[in-house]
Amino acid sequence: MYTQDQLKAMVANAAAQEVMQLAPGSVLGVGTGSTANLFIDAIAPHAKHFRGAVSSSEASTARLKAHGFQILDCNQVKEIPIYVDGADEIDPQGHMLKGGGGALTREKIVAQLATKFICICDASKQVQVLGQFPLPVEVLPMASEQVKRELESLGATVSLRQKKEGGGVFVTDNQGWILDASHLTIANPVTLESQINQLPGVIANGLFARRKADLLLVSTHAGVQKVAY
Ligand code: 5RP
Repeated sequence: MYTQDQLKAMVANAAAQEVMQLAPGSVLGVGTGSTANLFIDAIAPHAKHFRGAVSSSEASTARLKAHGFQILDCNQVKEIPIYVDGADEIDPQGHMLKGGGGALTREKIVAQLATKFICICDASKQVQVLGQFPLPVEVLPMASEQVKRELESLGATVSLRQKKEGGGVFVTDNQGWILDASHLTIANPVTLESQINQLPGVIANGLFARRKADLLLVSTHAGVQKVAY
């Protein structure tokens, strides 16, 4: 039996092997979170294989830079061949719920540039229906109460995310706040993603359904499996 950290490392290494098949000089899209961190560490010895990386958070940028990666701004890149990121949940169609680390908006922006989205996770993230994990919604601070009421009218229980340490409101890399919406019925992730995006003051929400995964690498106690969508 592997520990959860070992399962994450296994899938991170498998993703590293996938991206090493890209031509030298390619640009890589890199996600955020503990699994993405292990992916960054796994590709670190090959930093010079890539022209650079487009990063989805300040945290990933710092880690990539520490490993010698050139960081490219989204505005410098029209498309990237592969974006690799973790997820909080993934359903059988490849729709994901993300943003547990609070980087959902930038993750969406980088993912949108990518030809192929490779989701990396352990099997505990696979669900039949999204929504056991609270859905993160990034908002402009001035709109937080009204967006909270709108989400509650959809049946959610909503809490304003707080910093894990030190107290106070969690503030994203974009100076937004995060509303975590529990108990939503996510029967149609594509529709709900669009519906929440329409609320004034919403920057982005953690449903990655319109731009879902193209390939899932999932680690199990029997090894890493590939699921293409
Ligand atoms: C961050 C994310 C992460 O990909 C998601 O939270 C999964 O994180 P981890 O790999 O630590 O379980 O969306 O905003």
